[in-house]
Amino acid sequence: MSPESAAADRQRGPGEPCVMVIFGATGDLTKRLLLPSLYNLKVAGLLPEKFAIIGVSNIEHTSQSFREELTREAPGHATGPFDPAVWAWLAERLHYVTGVFDDPATFERLQQRLDIVAKEGAIPGNHLYYLATAPAFFGMIAERLGAAGLAQAPTGLWRRVVVEKPFGRDLESATELNRRLRHCLGEDQIYRIDHYMGKETVQNLMVFRFGNGIFEPIWDRRYIDHVQITAAETLGVEKRAAYYESSGALRDMVPNHLFQLLALTAMEPPNSFGAEAVRGEKAKILTALQPLTPEAVLTCAARGQYDAGLITEGAVAAYRAEPGVAAESQTETYAALKVTVDNWRWAGVPFYLRTGKRLKARSTTISIHFRRPPLQLFRHTGVGELDPNVLTIHVQPDEGISLRFGAKIPGPTVDIGDVEMKFKYAEYFGARPATGYETLLHDCMIGDQTLFQRADMTEAGWRVIQPLLDVWHALPARDFPNYAAGSWGPPEADEMMRRDGRAWKNDAA
Ligand code: BG6
Repeated sequence: MSPESAAADRQRGPGEPCVMVIFGATGDLTKRLLLPSLYNLKVAGLLPEKFAIIGVSNIEHTSQSFREELTREAPGHATGPFDPAVWAWLAERLHYVTGVFDDPATFERLQQRLDIVAKEGAIPGNHLYYLATAPAFFGMIAERLGAAGLAQAPTGLWRRVVVEKPFGRDLESATELNRRLRHCLGEDQIYRIDHYMGKETVQNLMVFRFGNGIFEPIWDRRYIDHVQITAAETLGVEKRAAYYESSGALRDMVPNHLFQLLALTAMEPPNSFGAEAVRGEKAKILTALQPLTPEAVLTCAARGQYDAGLITEGAVAAYRAEPGVAAESQTETYAALKVTVDNWRWAGVPFYLRTGKRLKARSTTISIHFRRPPLQLFRHTGVGELDPNVLTIHVQPDEGISLRFGAKIPGPTVDIGDVEMKFKYAEYFGARPATGYETLLHDCMIGDQTLFQRADMTEAGWRVIQPLLDVWHALPARDFPNYAAGSWGPPEADEMMRRDGRAWKNDAA
């Protein structure tokens, strides 16, 4: 069997037998995303029969009380109809170890429990460690695993570590975290997760571009005027002020999620769909992104913070009035920037990126704005300037792809109107409720790193936004709050586009 077809078989089959150890297992992520995803994988027949989960956290629990708590909450977090029999299968495989992460004794207890669980379930010694903790613990846990001998697998078995975001808070801390991880783990053991890569439409981007003959020939600077990538949220900061106050929209969304979307949009076709081929092409784009000079930050980027306003659900408070947020907070809840990819294909094509909370609509899109036709044939017929063609990839909530083009409005005169051709995932393939973590967890269990960030990719992302972090820190915003909740963001972001003779494409859901 060729390596490619062996990989394809693995993709379709269940993950390899393993024990999944969740550090920080009493947190939200476990209940809301990890267990519902494992449940969905079980339903899809993609979990190995020989499987167990060990939760580790400093909150006192026995395996029994841990199981009971999760069982109470499970139906509420399910993404589809809840089958108690499927849950029971998972629940009986749940175990717990109480302990703090900086204590070697915790890892001794973990080691003992791993031995017992593996023996009881006849599970070979494959371990998937999931770091669902505060980021301050990532390096420490990896080092403790290394010191306890839990990071190295006997021949033929594996030990993998999944690292959640945020991966560092600037270039220096991300580089340091990579150094610490690499000190005790091989790069092939590290799975830096970005949940955007688990989204169906994001994965479809490569199929769309490289599995079809008609788009790639026009996918470059000769035909494309510019690209817009938007991740607009209607949600506010929710209960996450403690984290968000020290993060802000730029750190929270740009070097990870938005740069991943950009890399997939701009990358060259890889030689194969192997992890290294794909990640190598993505890394090339991230390293070709030009960091803004401090002067350019003033004209090629915009930041905002939401004020009180009106969203579909009703009136909502200003960011500064949210629980846990400082009354004079300088944290941005909106960030926009223009970046350029310095390579042959994209020279001169700006990529405009923006993200914000409490915006008018929840909408994550990538829109490709094509150049206008070279000849305004219709200029004598009174139709004015034709709108350019726009291809939009709707990442969420209504996953799909649409193409805007001009058509003659029926009638005796030549009048041109914009029309839209739409493909909606749900209409073709039906809705498949999922958390978005299923593919990623399954990939960890089969050892496929394609969708995960490599060390160089994380550092390249931070390198690009570091000048923004520095300038914004040195020059605190004087006009916050500067956009109303329920609007499309601050006027500075519109101004940034207007200077380039362009405008944001706002897609209401
Ligand atoms: C997370 C951010 O990574 O992504 C959140 O920390 C944000 O602030 C979320 O709300 C958005 O994810 P999604 O899948 O809802 O677009």
